[in-house]
Amino acid sequence: MAQDIRAEIRKVGIVGGGVIGAGWAARFVLNGIDVAIYDPDPEVERKTAAVIGNARRALTRLFGQALPAEGTVTFAGSIAEAVRDADFIQESLPEREDLKVRLLAEMDAAMPDHAVIGSSTSGLLPTKLQAGMARPDRLVVGHPFNPVYILPLVEVCGGDLTSQRTKDIAAAVYTQIGMKVLHVRKEIDGFIADRLMEAVWREALWLINDGIATASEIDDAIRFGAGMRWSFMGTFLVYRLAGGEEGMRHFLHQFGPSMEWPWTKLIGPKLTDELIETITRQSDEQAGGLDLRTYEKLRDDCLVDLTHALERHDFAAGAVARAHRQRLGGGAPAVGSVLTDGRVLTISTPVQPEWIDYNKHLTEWAYLKLFGDGTDVVLAKIGAGAEYVAGGHSWYTVETHIRHLGQARLGEPVEVRTRVLAADAKRLHLFHEMVSLKQNAVIATAEHMLVHVDAKAEKSAPAPQAMQDAALALVAGQAQLPPPDGTGRQIRMPG
Ligand SMILES: NC(=O)c1ccc[n+]([C@@H]2O[C@H](COP(=O)([O-])OP(=O)(O)OC[C@H]3O[C@@H](n4cnc5c(N)ncnc54)[C@H](O)[C@@H]3O)[C@@H](O)[C@H]2O)c1
Repeated sequence: MAQDIRAEIRKVGIVGGGVIGAGWAARFVLNGIDVAIYDPDPEVERKTAAVIGNARRALTRLFGQALPAEGTVTFAGSIAEAVRDADFIQESLPEREDLKVRLLAEMDAAMPDHAVIGSSTSGLLPTKLQAGMARPDRLVVGHPFNPVYILPLVEVCGGDLTSQRTKDIAAAVYTQIGMKVLHVRKEIDGFIADRLMEAVWREALWLINDGIATASEIDDAIRFGAGMRWSFMGTFLVYRLAGGEEGMRHFLHQFGPSMEWPWTKLIGPKLTDELIETITRQSDEQAGGLDLRTYEKLRDDCLVDLTHALERHDFAAGAVARAHRQRLGGGAPAVGSVLTDGRVLTISTPVQPEWIDYNKHLTEWAYLKLFGDGTDVVLAKIGAGAEYVAGGHSWYTVETHIRHLGQARLGEPVEVRTRVLAADAKRLHLFHEMVSLKQNAVIATAEHMLVHVDAKAEKSAPAPQAMQDAALALVAGQAQLPPPDGTGRQIRMPG
């Protein structure tokens, strides 16, 4: 029954554990989902462990402690064993239509009623792939990009018989593991992304074939120019900006005519033995003797750093990473709740990339920001939130003392726990402790004095009685605790 199909998944069957299958396994496992892999390659366990190792390193850099406990990896002895208790199946077999059609039918016969299958095919049509299945509505293409564990894009494309429910389920599953779903509305060979990549690749092959440029020069033509822009703006947004203030219309008028000139070629050059030799030799020269693993690490490090940079702008792939980071942190305790010892939990967050300094630690201003945000939580709790401020009154911080006692690194979960030490009609005396949950240690404290003000008059004024009562209740709640270490401190040189 279609209604039984589930988006909440606990276990995924991976059929085909090569470059892409192992990449999927890594993405699922590092997002807390169990996988069972079937691949007849006798080396599959070693190869998968290497890919998951790379992925663990990359995703720990990317998301840090926000990552959930890893799922488990098991290796199945047959397709049926890999899929029989799976909630979702990802097929990553070699790109051969006959093989995929035959084995997709086998998966369909063995999988549970609620499961659906995503196929990693780079360009085969799902309508053809679902031809042998008893439940063809359960197949959809989920086309990823290498390395699957970092790059967020997945193209979702249904065939003639794919149900909307299956597409929705696949999209929900991929989103759950931090991906950006691009729905391919019309089935087409090569989908969207590979058609674009192939066009560039075809031209690149011609340029080598005709002796115009080497592999290394072609890569330079991309990576020092257009490639940098493509990674966050694509091609249309870039050209819109290239059109100046008149935008895309001007750009099309200016450069449109060249589209009719026969610059580029629609069909690639014939891959003769000679051309294959030339490209392979040039590629070896370009690689400069560095091995595959070294390049994989470099690629992953650059991709993670790029994602962090984009995350600071909440843009393109960075926006996807930021949303996933928030999704991963979803189980955190409720901010604003009063803890059993009377303190208020005012901040609970992993350390974000934009808060990191050149020492790779939480940077100085970020402490003040987090403590300031913690103060806002207390103010909202006593009735001095944004609405109250809009009404013309507020609490202003008149003095702050921060002590730095330790460090926190990217992704490390930190909490700020706040005590309202004292309150009266016009004053609030707050004491924040920032705790690293990883180190189980206080890494900073902040003491603030706040004064209640009439913002228009820019003068102190008594807070409303209800607000004073709410503040005094928080004072009473923590009163049984000993005075915090470090209150009333000043900075002075010893002696
Ligand atoms: N490599 C890429 O960059 C890339 C990117 C996106 C999508 N894809 C697609 O992903 C799929 C897999 O590509 P790949 O690059 O991982 O290829 P690959 O050759 O690295 O892996 C294919 C794996 O399938 C296994 N296999 C062969 N017969 C099998 C069987 N009967 N049962 C189970 N496993 C079997 C092989 O042992 C191998 O490990 C293809 O459809 C491809 O188009 C590849």
